[in-house]
Amino acid sequence: MTLAAEPTGVTARVPGKINLQLVVGPLREDGFHELATVFHAVGLYDHVIVTPAEEWSVRVGGRHADRVPQDGSNLALQAARMLAEASGGQPPVAITIDKQIPVAAGMAGGSADAAGALVACEALWELGWGRDELATVAARLGSDVPFLLHGGTAIGSGRGEQLAPVLARGRLHWVLWISRDGGLSTPQVYAECDRLRDAAGEVPADPEPTGELLTALRTMEPTAVGAALHNDLQEAAVSLAPTLATVLQAGLDLDVEGAVVSGSGPTVAFLVDSSDAAIDLTVGLAARGPEGDIVRVDGPVPGAQVVGSFTPSGPAPSGSSD
Ligand code: C5P
Repeated sequence: MTLAAEPTGVTARVPGKINLQLVVGPLREDGFHELATVFHAVGLYDHVIVTPAEEWSVRVGGRHADRVPQDGSNLALQAARMLAEASGGQPPVAITIDKQIPVAAGMAGGSADAAGALVACEALWELGWGRDELATVAARLGSDVPFLLHGGTAIGSGRGEQLAPVLARGRLHWVLWISRDGGLSTPQVYAECDRLRDAAGEVPADPEPTGELLTALRTMEPTAVGAALHNDLQEAAVSLAPTLATVLQAGLDLDVEGAVVSGSGPTVAFLVDSSDAAIDLTVGLAARGPEGDIVRVDGPVPGAQVVGSFTPSGPAPSGSSD
């Protein structure tokens, strides 16, 4: 009889996000801003692989590996350790990340890796935890981590960690412009938003997403969704990275349904009405826009999920044979 080898490594796939709306309210005493956002998971993925090891470690490869810390400050490593502790103590893992989501780009790339590590470790350690239990650990790691577990399209409130699903049918086609000049620091963009508001004498109200967007999402009609895209951090992101004004204008001069800076930027998301229009816009932006990576993605897509488990020497056998 041949014994089926126990799978000892687990791979999770996790998407990036854009914000269809981001309404920033007042600064709270804990240093976060109260917000109302509509998160939308899009098909640009990181892969997070966890394997049992003698010591905790993280290694990063892929398109955006160079700006990711490979020490204890890495969010995926923090997530794995936090889950190990919260579940009563687990043995160390070695984490490998294939990084395709840009870093410090307003797409929650670090949060995505944390969500991927939670899902992969949960499976490796066979904890039997549901999404809600994982979400409590996720919220301690960062405001966007619970959404990356959830995926799809969802309203985020509080500091972004409290989620309510959105009724959304259909698929949206996006073209992303991703900076090659480096990212923007999220705390700096929020601080710039506060500074601009103070200078203008604006006092933020309690944030709410608009009914216009929620109605548009029921049918996913691109013109209606495009008209409702909004980001309160956009002005601050453009103030810190003025090239973004040129990127936004380049897209608006072409055939788009809407354009918005994602999260704290500098990624810009353009909504188009078909996959053919996405190809046309990609060509147009490459010819006219400031230099950047231009990527076509669809949304919504599911959140972090396990896509494979394997033994150290190869894929796990699908069954045993005598
Ligand atoms: O939660 P996360 O680690 O993503 O937040 C990074 C930083 O972004 C925070 O330290 C804070 O400066 C800013 N932030 C905020 N209000 C939020 C979310 C983030 O001011 N709701």
